[in-house]
Amino acid sequence: MSGHFFLQSPTLRTRLLDIQAKVAPIQGWVSDQAGMVLYQLTRFYAPTGTVVELGSWKGRSTVWLAHAVKDRGAGRVFAVDTWKGTQNGGPDEQTCQAYD
Ligand SMILES: C[S@@+](CC[C@H](N)C(=O)[O-])C[C@H]1O[C@@H](n2cnc3c(N)ncnc32)[C@H](O)[C@@H]1O
Repeated sequence: MSGHFFLQSPTLRTRLLDIQAKVAPIQGWVSDQAGMVLYQLTRFYAPTGTVVELGSWKGRSTVWLAHAVKDRGAGRVFAVDTWKGTQNGGPDEQTCQAYD
């Protein structure tokens, strides 16, 4: 399992940097490093099929997942958020209303 994370092929590295650039303008929590791990776990290790993300907020992590599913050539991503916020923060009603 570690091979993909520590010995990235030039092609994979280019792809990760490409996605990183797409994710950059999206506000969110997931770091680039975490996003790259998420991408590789989804692309190479998760069973093919539907991916359901609980807690997508503005979609920063969702973009990593969506690219992984696209690149593995099978599956769909459903992004879900309650918009009730996290334990440390309150409900995010303003952001939620902006998407209405
Ligand atoms: C840390 S933020 C999301 C970060 C996001 N994945 C990103 O990459 O920026 C956590 C989100 O999870 C949502 N959330 C918390 N519990 C949830 C649940 N049980 N189902 C769906 N969303 C939930 C919150 O409303 C909040 O928007």
